[in-house]
Amino acid sequence: MPKYRIAWLPGDGVGKDVMQAARLILDTLKLDAEYIPGDIGWEFWMHEGDPLPQRTIDMLKTTDCALFGAITSKPKEEAAKELDPELADKGFVYFSPIVRLRQEFNLHTNLRPCKAYPGNPLNYKEGIDIAVFRENTEGMYGGVEFFPLPQSVYDALCIHPKMKKFGDKSPLSEIAMSTRIMTKKGCASIVTQAFEFARKFNRRSVTVVDKPNVLRETGGLMIRTAREVAENYPEIPLWETNIDAQCMWLVKNPHDYDVLVCENMFGDIISDLSAQLVGGLGFACAGNIGDEYAVFEPTHGSAPKYVGMNKVNPIAMILSAKMMLDWLGETDMAVKLENAVAAVIEEGEVRTYDMGASNTTTDMAEAVAGKLNV
Ligand code: IPM
Ligand code: MG
Repeated sequence: MPKYRIAWLPGDGVGKDVMQAARLILDTLKLDAEYIPGDIGWEFWMHEGDPLPQRTIDMLKTTDCALFGAITSKPKEEAAKELDPELADKGFVYFSPIVRLRQEFNLHTNLRPCKAYPGNPLNYKEGIDIAVFRENTEGMYGGVEFFPLPQSVYDALCIHPKMKKFGDKSPLSEIAMSTRIMTKKGCASIVTQAFEFARKFNRRSVTVVDKPNVLRETGGLMIRTAREVAENYPEIPLWETNIDAQCMWLVKNPHDYDVLVCENMFGDIISDLSAQLVGGLGFACAGNIGDEYAVFEPTHGSAPKYVGMNKVNPIAMILSAKMMLDWLGETDMAVKLENAVAAVIEEGEVRTYDMGASNTTTDMAEAVAGKLNV
């Protein structure tokens, strides 16, 4: 029996192309694994009213971890229009499957390394090496939101004097509310992960990014908790910044930053910005990591305009597979794979369209596979 059972979730659009690229790499490395395909994505939304069917969740529970390609995501109303006619008006509501996976499997930590590999023509500056730790299950992604605002929620919140003004101004049927709920446990967990990483890899600092001057309660909880956790890591300085200023500083002085830690929504934002500093979404890999399960994915979407063209850069996907190897404890393979990616980028002979040339997804995968020396 193979050593690992890995759920194989190509999803939508170019997810299929980049997953094929990842497979070539894993097969070349001879990872002792079986890959179990799972249904996820837009076609299951259209035909079944659920982009993440229960059978897929059941299957995932029999595996060690999952590799995930990309998913098409649309706002609620647009998604509803694409349902099969016989499913329309049956009460199906679109909810992002990746957000659901993070919730269902309590994948509380989203790690997004953003590294400028030398020779990448898309690097904003050489030498950037930022790791974003994004809390992955709480905050504005917790799913506690309302429209219209139920009377009971309004009444309950009227213990807060500032709530009433919304009801005075507008009928409840015209008030929308998305909440940002954070727990001390969630904050402590993500900050601890960030510091543990910083300690393990000798990183210079950990920066906690929030907005406690305005979001005084949730932001305040995050910052206070970060300070408490930091006491256990006296050798690593904790810096505190506001999300808006942090965006500016990252563009201005990206080398000053090392490990960034944020709640969910701010982590979503800052990880796209950090990815762009090192070449954009074609290079942005991610791990959604829980205590017992993990899902690895490139942060890019399904890029519908490039579907079936074998065109997009698979490096983000390949680096996500590298993160999976690390998580599985296959460190030698992970190092080999990262070195291979770095070598291909440095040589610059094979470059996909985003890197200014015209090599295909497969060309890039083959180039990396060719450097694995196995
Ligand atoms: C990401 C993406 C997702 C998110 C979307 C696709 C729901 O932007 O992984 O960063 O917002 O978390
Ligand atoms: Mg995002």
